[in-house]
Amino acid sequence: MRSSVGTTAPQQSTAALLAVGVPRVGRKVPGFLTALDKAFKGEISRVLASGDFTGKPDQTAVFYPAKGPKRVLLVGLGESNSLDGNAVRKAAALAARQALELGAGSLAFFLTSETASKMDAEETGRVVIEGVGQGGWTFEQFRSKRRSKTDITNVQILTTKALRTATDRGRKVGAAVAAGQAFARNLQMRPGNHCTPSDLAREAETLGERYGFKVRVKGRRQIQKEGMNALLAVSQGSAQEPRFITMEYRGRTSAKPVCLVGKGVTFDSGGISIKPALNMEEMKFDMSGAAAVLGTFEVLGRLKPLINVVGLIPTTENLLSSTAVKPGDVVKTHFGKTVEIINTDAEGRLILCDALSYARRFEPVCIVDIATLTGAVVVALGDQATGLMGNNDDLIEELLGAGAVAGEPCWELPLWDGYRQQIDSDIADIKNVGGRAAGSITAGWFLKEFIDKHPWAHLDIAGTAYLDHDRPDIAKGPTGVGVRLFSEFVLRRAAG
Ligand code: BES
Ligand code: MN
Ligand code: ZN
Repeated sequence: MRSSVGTTAPQQSTAALLAVGVPRVGRKVPGFLTALDKAFKGEISRVLASGDFTGKPDQTAVFYPAKGPKRVLLVGLGESNSLDGNAVRKAAALAARQALELGAGSLAFFLTSETASKMDAEETGRVVIEGVGQGGWTFEQFRSKRRSKTDITNVQILTTKALRTATDRGRKVGAAVAAGQAFARNLQMRPGNHCTPSDLAREAETLGERYGFKVRVKGRRQIQKEGMNALLAVSQGSAQEPRFITMEYRGRTSAKPVCLVGKGVTFDSGGISIKPALNMEEMKFDMSGAAAVLGTFEVLGRLKPLINVVGLIPTTENLLSSTAVKPGDVVKTHFGKTVEIINTDAEGRLILCDALSYARRFEPVCIVDIATLTGAVVVALGDQATGLMGNNDDLIEELLGAGAVAGEPCWELPLWDGYRQQIDSDIADIKNVGGRAAGSITAGWFLKEFIDKHPWAHLDIAGTAYLDHDRPDIAKGPTGVGVRLFSEFVLRRAAG
């Protein structure tokens, strides 16, 4: 998808679809739309007069002007006094989804100057491209015949000469973030047989070569030597070898790195504690945390911000065979603590605990892990928010803030001391499940046992990593959640 910023008048655009973001309006054309209405020969006044379109979020109306763009789409932005980046991103995403539906391969996006003035131009440029990237995403890799009518090959943001430079700065950031999110979604979508632990490692290596950052991959032998026995235990039922991926992005600063850790279970059958067959295919998405970290490195590679970031991805399948780990087995983790594996389906925390322990050698300023960790977080928050826990209030606030701005909201769950006893083991230092009650929190507690002093936070994306239904602004399937949040997080830190 090529993107640009232009200053031609919207009625002179030659795009297959011109999208116009419109805040709440009545049946009469308001002052800020009269010029545009005139340029389109009263089309807008006719739409508004019908009452079909009032500028509510998710609302759209199409008309076909005699001259200029082939189609014009009015997209609702909601109340103009609460207009923000999320509203504009969503409108842009909706417009892109409509463009795909209509077979429009080129898209122009326009806000009237009154609406644009309520936004920061750089932010507008960024969120429009992020939104179009999100809404315009298609995945055809495994079809012999394309299903979508078109791809959006070209998007142009229309603005004034005065705002051009700032808008274009934002456009570049948005294009990088959109590429990172698309990278993550493309990876997530790949089924287990097309995305093994070694495939994930190759993706990391390719990124490292393309953008010039260091990538190290450990195979089974080295994982063994390192003492990551919890990761090994999960992998031992599978013919596919595990991998432990380290990525080191250095951004011309000597500051201590941020460490991002992503769960990379390329397929989760549950192991001997096997899952029910219904919807088990969704467990190809159990590497979504890894995809988010890789997608973030795509963004880092493109934007080269002044920050250091280490990405760690423990990756394995969770299968069952005569060599698989069994309920009751005890393993000694990389950290040194022993774990009783009560349930082999609680494998994410096992592979993450060794990665969290390994993270210490980078002396990170903070560690943030991201994982499709618990079904319980889906029960608690559904697909509306990512579960957030941690040991440091400032870090949690920072992530809540980044998620809110990025349109990837998080909600904190209390990691109170009282929950800790649920993972006491009769035989080992801890056990890997804490019963049905507060399942996301006891999973968080398990991870916390492997942090000794660093500020740390945990994002449980089991409910937000993929959607089981279409939304107006995003198709069902993988969301790439985490990429926008992490991008916002690291870019803010890089800006100081
Ligand atoms: N990968 C799953 C969690 C999950 C559930 C992700 C639903 C996406 C959608 C994880 O490995 C798992 O199986 N967790 C168990 C833990 C339980 C055994 C304590 C769960 O949540 O059922
Ligand atoms: Mn599992
Ligand atoms: Zn899992």
